[in-house]
Amino acid sequence: MTNTASSQPLPAPQAGLYREPGNHAHYLEMTLRDGIAAEDIKHALALALLQDLDTHIALAFGSQGWDRLQPDWRPADLQPFTTLAAKHQMPATQADLLFWIHGEDRGEVMAAAIHIGQSMAAVADVQLDISGFKNHESRDLTGFVDGTANPKEEKRIDAAQIPAGQPGAGGSYVFSQQWRHNLQSFQQLTTEQQEAVIGRTKRDNIELEGDAMPVDSHVSRTDVKVDGVGMKIYRRSTPYYSSAEDRGLYFISFACELKRISIQLERMVGASDDGIADQLMGYSQPLTGSYWFMPAQADLMQLLKEQGAGVAEADD
Ligand code: HEM
Repeated sequence: MTNTASSQPLPAPQAGLYREPGNHAHYLEMTLRDGIAAEDIKHALALALLQDLDTHIALAFGSQGWDRLQPDWRPADLQPFTTLAAKHQMPATQADLLFWIHGEDRGEVMAAAIHIGQSMAAVADVQLDISGFKNHESRDLTGFVDGTANPKEEKRIDAAQIPAGQPGAGGSYVFSQQWRHNLQSFQQLTTEQQEAVIGRTKRDNIELEGDAMPVDSHVSRTDVKVDGVGMKIYRRSTPYYSSAEDRGLYFISFACELKRISIQLERMVGASDDGIADQLMGYSQPLTGSYWFMPAQADLMQLLKEQGAGVAEADD
């Protein structure tokens, strides 16, 4: 049964999940310090989310972080990300908290990041701190449009949110991964070779067809069906640029079940039965990798209830 077909109402996700484009983004991954009481952490989180800026702040939890704050229940698939290694590698850098901030104004997004950093300073350490931006036509720094095959409207709800009736319903399993591009080597390819890596044309963004679509293109590795069901996920990645040596994509995706993501990752590194790897991994290197649970807005408010006055209501 799909989310939208269920007779039970689906709890609303955290504000901003479907608010596109979000021209500016900031990502903060944090580890919780040992020996801090759960109540103190919740107090800091409530303060971090209390803001009157015109941005969206979504909060997601790593497996251990969730257990520390909510020992009473957990969504069925929640687990830490572990290193994947076959023809290529994906390192695991699992932390406890992910703040995904996005909005239209860079100043407001940065102000929200500063406010969160100050609110959390006594209880957590920052492990990743990256600004992202939406590029012209939603193009990745490789020059290819990113996000085209994202499910739309009702279908994105089925893809992105845990179905009604399950623990964590309305929330999402999240995967985040910082990819550093080797743009020099990618740009040495001809346009046709680049298109074969991605599986779509560069200028017009049309999917390659038939024999023109290589089995090891990025689209071939990630467009996958299991028992007739498309393993669709909902992506909200943005490019980032830290320096000429460090620029690429902060990948972030949302799914109704974890296996939709893990199957794609295994097919990318070459760990699936066919042993084929994604050509894209020859031109971009994953530096981080974490699984998260982003609870529905009502579950987040319940978690932070005692401290949570002012935590924003969901608006979509
Ligand atoms: C360097 C990192 C990555 C880059 C530059 C990248 C870029 C792209 C581009 C340009 C497309 C084609 C347009 C579109 O439909 O969005 C695409 C499709 C897609 N990517 Fe990625 N991607 C990256 C990593 C990942 C990862 C880690 C996953 C899985 C967890 C993933 C999952 C997908 C999916 C599901 C599609 C749509 C396939 C389809 O149904 O046609 N991507 N990506």
